[in-house]
Amino acid sequence: MRVAIIGSGPAGFYAAEALLKRTDTVVHVDMFDRLPTPYGLVRGGVAPDHQNIKAVTRVFEKTAARPTFRFLGNVRLGRDVTVEELRQHYHQIVYAVGNEADRRLGIPGEGMPRCTPASVFVGWYNGHPDYRHAKIDLSVSRVAVVGNGNVAIDSARILLRTPAELEKTDIAAHALEALRNSQVREVFILGRRGPEQALFTPPELKEFGEMEDVDTIVDPEELAGCVILEAAGNTQQEKNLKILQSYAARQPGAETPPSGKTRKLHLRFRVSPTEVIAGADGNVAGLALEKNRLEVEPDGTVSARGTGEIEVLDVGMVLPAIGFAAERIAGVPYDEKARVIANEDGRVVDPVSRNVIANEYVVGWACTGPQGLIGSHKGASAHVVEHMIADGAGLDARELPDREAIDTLLRGRGVRAVSFDDWKRLDDVEVARGARRGVPRDKITDIGAMLAVLAQY
Ligand SMILES: Cc1cc2nc3c(=O)[nH]c(=O)nc-3n(C[C@H](O)[C@H](O)[C@H](O)COP(=O)(O)OP(=O)(O)OC[C@H]3O[C@@H](n4cnc5c(N)ncnc54)[C@H](O)[C@@H]3O)c2cc1C
Ligand SMILES: NC(=O)c1ccc[n+]([C@@H]2O[C@H](COP(=O)([O-])OP(=O)(O)OC[C@H]3O[C@@H](n4cnc5c(N)ncnc54)[C@H](OP(=O)(O)O)[C@@H]3O)[C@@H](O)[C@H]2O)c1
Repeated sequence: MRVAIIGSGPAGFYAAEALLKRTDTVVHVDMFDRLPTPYGLVRGGVAPDHQNIKAVTRVFEKTAARPTFRFLGNVRLGRDVTVEELRQHYHQIVYAVGNEADRRLGIPGEGMPRCTPASVFVGWYNGHPDYRHAKIDLSVSRVAVVGNGNVAIDSARILLRTPAELEKTDIAAHALEALRNSQVREVFILGRRGPEQALFTPPELKEFGEMEDVDTIVDPEELAGCVILEAAGNTQQEKNLKILQSYAARQPGAETPPSGKTRKLHLRFRVSPTEVIAGADGNVAGLALEKNRLEVEPDGTVSARGTGEIEVLDVGMVLPAIGFAAERIAGVPYDEKARVIANEDGRVVDPVSRNVIANEYVVGWACTGPQGLIGSHKGASAHVVEHMIADGAGLDARELPDREAIDTLLRGRGVRAVSFDDWKRLDDVEVARGARRGVPRDKITDIGAMLAVLAQY
């Protein structure tokens, strides 16, 4: 069987692994990515000060080393190749394209300069080619980050790290330079619901307490109504509350006051932004917040309801970190409501009739939306591969063009497909550049520059 996987993030790689290690069927995998570099958000999302997480790429390298695997980077589905063409060249297709669109707050002023989706900030500091020219103006002293998930935490942490902390990482060189000169000294992370509903993972929340120059500030009042605060501390929710409680105990006047560090992180809860306020120069000068109360719905979920009480937070930048959605790709069925590729348990379906579209599958965030850590994709992608194998019996009898015909088609269009060996060359160059700076790697952030490096071989 010949399978095309579109997207080389964790979900795509774990699907490839599950296909290639089968002993009952010989599967040939061609993995496409729109970038010349593999690994999706492991390269472009995972924070530069979390290098150990990136070690997962060694597992993906082993998959890529299998003789029946090929990488075709720098090929974008919907631009360089169409779904119809993939159908002609492959028995089955797996969409593993992630969630590359942002969700919006939908409030007045959202589009103004210095109100920037966190994904843009993250892509910028991680050297993603799409965002290398993003305008990130760090001349302001106070920033609001909206959302209570780990992307909010990552964004706040990178804003508050000292240059010395950042210099040890593989942060993009342009971002390091800008952050060295940053005037940001105070960040507010804003949750629309309470501490009990926050989606932070405890190690990430705890890390604020271990930073070189940051005091983390939680008003004890914020925790006053939390009913599970006295619980054993075993669940994520309970662990988060214990950590927040330890921060709240460090307020001025408390037994252990803040240490007098120069940067401050404030964790605020039960507030929703209602308007981004412009200053005279047209840039962000404040964020209007409405105080919320929490209500338990009949199904047990907890919702935030506005109370009408408004305050204005004096900030010069707003980073909404409120989640993502799948991009629409021409020819790929899209579920408008869930904002993912339309599917039933990983089988692609027509979004209206819900009829299965034979031999097309979806894994990862493109399937479920933006939830779950890297490791969660291993089992989830393997589950979809089971469907593929069950549905694929006899499919290999369908004769396809030669495997290299897709390369000829791309070349004919002037598309320079990047192989895994090519990527290893780029990898070597980045690591060597990094070694000169004493860091794990110095990323090349421009696709033209990557291709120019490869042209020398
Ligand atoms: C900022 C951030 C930090 C994170 N940090 C961590 C962490 O520290 N630890 C952790 O466990 N999880 C972390 N996660 C979650 C983790 O990154 C995701 O669970 C995981 O990457 C999703 O995998 P995926 O393969 O579905 O998508 P992605 O990793 O997004 O991969 C999608 C791939 O598809 C490619 N693609 C998209 N469109 C096309 C197209 N049209 N044609 C060809 N290719 C295309 C993209 O270039 C990309 O390579 C983080 C997420 C974010 C947003
Ligand atoms: N270090 C890490 O391990 C790491 C780093 C980054 C990301 N990740 C993972 O990647 C996934 C995505 O992370 P994420 O932070 O983007 O998403 P997330 O965990 O889903 O958090 C999104 C946050 O945005 C809030 N929100 C949504 N709409 C809002 C609105 N209109 N106004 C105000 N707040 C709003 C949500 O609040 P409600 O709950 O009220 O909806 C929630 O607090 C998660 O699984 C995360 O753990 C992991």
